Amino acid sequence: MTTIELLQPDDWHVHLRNDEMLAAVVGYSAQRFRYAMVMPNLMPPITSSEAAATYRAQILQHVPASKSGFNPQMAIYCSDTVDLNDLKAGIASGAIAAVKYYPAGATTNSAAGGQSMADFMTLYEVLAESGVRLLVHAESTDPTVDLFDREAVFLERQLATVCERLPELQVTVEHVSTAAGIDFVAAHDQAVATITPHHLSKERSDLLAHGMKPDLFCKPIINSAADRDALVAAATSGESSFFLGTDSAPHPTTAKYGPTAKAGIFNAAYGLEVVAEVFYQQNKLDQLEAFTSRNGAKAYGVDVADTKIRLTREAVDADIATSFTTAAGDEVVLFGTDEAALWKVEQL
Ligand code: DOR
Ligand code: ZN
Repeated sequence: MTTIELLQPDDWHVHLRNDEMLAAVVGYSAQRFRYAMVMPNLMPPITSSEAAATYRAQILQHVPASKSGFNPQMAIYCSDTVDLNDLKAGIASGAIAAVKYYPAGATTNSAAGGQSMADFMTLYEVLAESGVRLLVHAESTDPTVDLFDREAVFLERQLATVCERLPELQVTVEHVSTAAGIDFVAAHDQAVATITPHHLSKERSDLLAHGMKPDLFCKPIINSAADRDALVAAATSGESSFFLGTDSAPHPTTAKYGPTAKAGIFNAAYGLEVVAEVFYQQNKLDQLEAFTSRNGAKAYGVDVADTKIRLTREAVDADIATSFTTAAGDEVVLFGTDEAALWKVEQL
């Protein structure tokens, strides 16, 4: 039997939504994680310090009292409507922990995003001066670029230029999904990357080769087996530039199953078990704590946790839930049920 204790993990990229969906999902994140970097792609998007503070208060209302260590960090949406004085004030007060750049049209609720990263240099200067990270959804929206090449092309055409022009800017390449993304981070001291449980454990044949699986559809798209292997190598290396961001993104089955599927995978419930199994299979469990609990804290300048969890690889007797239903009647499928049956997680 394999058992390992970890400092409480953090989730440096999560979608908590609002209303009934927020009420249904936040407990899953609070159950496992300490810090959570909360994405701002609501409708309308979170673009001010006041909206961020209001949203944070709504999130905390739904956190169980026993999980008071759960600490949402709020990212605001990079858009024309961001007021730079408000941004500075929000950074100073702690209401704003980061700014997220979405290319317009790349993914769910990204319509308010940018056409070109270079349009926001003045905003990035504020971030660089305050040591606050720019979080980047790195995906080209050029329709002539193949879906599986979009991360590499965006990094080369857009983020590389911004990094060159502003070397003091700290960036996080979110949900890095390709070997090209790993190489980009390795080549730029100012860049780190989050990696998701699904990009670490699946490759595009899982998505497409055995009947198309809407539950594995997300953006950026799950890429080739070689890309997945590069992500696994980076995550299990212990290298401080790489850490866990689940990109847990719930969508009702009504939005996932049909002629078009919304992008997003809900993995807040079992993402940790998925990651543990990836590290176990690589014989790299000794590097798991760096990935889940240390490297992200370092990148965001916070202390590591003072609480711990224990993971034990043993057959779990209890029934493994495969979905949940919100108070509005929406069903959401849980990612990682196979791994959830293999790992017991205890709060210490
Ligand atoms: O798959 C995704 N879903 N990727 C994103 O970038 C957004 C997310 C969502 O909000 O559903
Ligand atoms: Zn996301």
